[in-house]
Amino acid sequence: MGNYSYLSTIEPESSNLIKALQLVQAREGYVSDEAIVAVAEYFSLAPVEVEGVLSFYAQFKRTKPGKYEIAVCDGTACHIKGTPAVLKWVSGELGIADGETDKDGFFSLVTVACLGCCSLAPVMSINGKVYGQLDRKKVLRILKEYRNNG
Ligand code: FES
Repeated sequence: MGNYSYLSTIEPESSNLIKALQLVQAREGYVSDEAIVAVAEYFSLAPVEVEGVLSFYAQFKRTKPGKYEIAVCDGTACHIKGTPAVLKWVSGELGIADGETDKDGFFSLVTVACLGCCSLAPVMSINGKVYGQLDRKKVLRILKEYRNNG
C-alpha cells in the first residue's frame, strides 16, 4: 500500500477532490487503483465515485507512464501530415497502443493536442523533447537511440 499521507495537506471537502487527484498525479505520475481507494477513503466517498470524476477529465492518467513518455501530436496540422502513420510506426515497433506502457516500463505512448510547433508536423515529443518532420526512418532511429542510451 502506497503512502498517501501527503493528502493531508488538502482539506477533505468535495470541492477539493480534483485538487487532490492532481496532487496524486504530480507525485506518482498517474492515478493508480490504489490511489483511488486512498483518495476515496480520505474524502469519505466510494471508490466508484472518485473513478467517475476521474473519467470525466482527460488530464488524468490511469496507467503508469514509462521512463520515456512518447507523446504523438494529434493536432490538426500533424493529423493532416500523418499522425496515424506515426502512431502506427511507434506502435508497430514497441508493441504498445495509444495509452499503454510497455512491459519493461520503458516507453509509454499517448496522443496529445497541438504541441505548438505545427511547422514541424508531424511531431512527437519524448519526455518533453520535441522531434519533428517525422518519417518512418526517423521515428525508428529516435526510438533506437533511447533504447541504446537507456
Ligand atoms: S498540430 Fe502538431 S504541433 Fe501543432
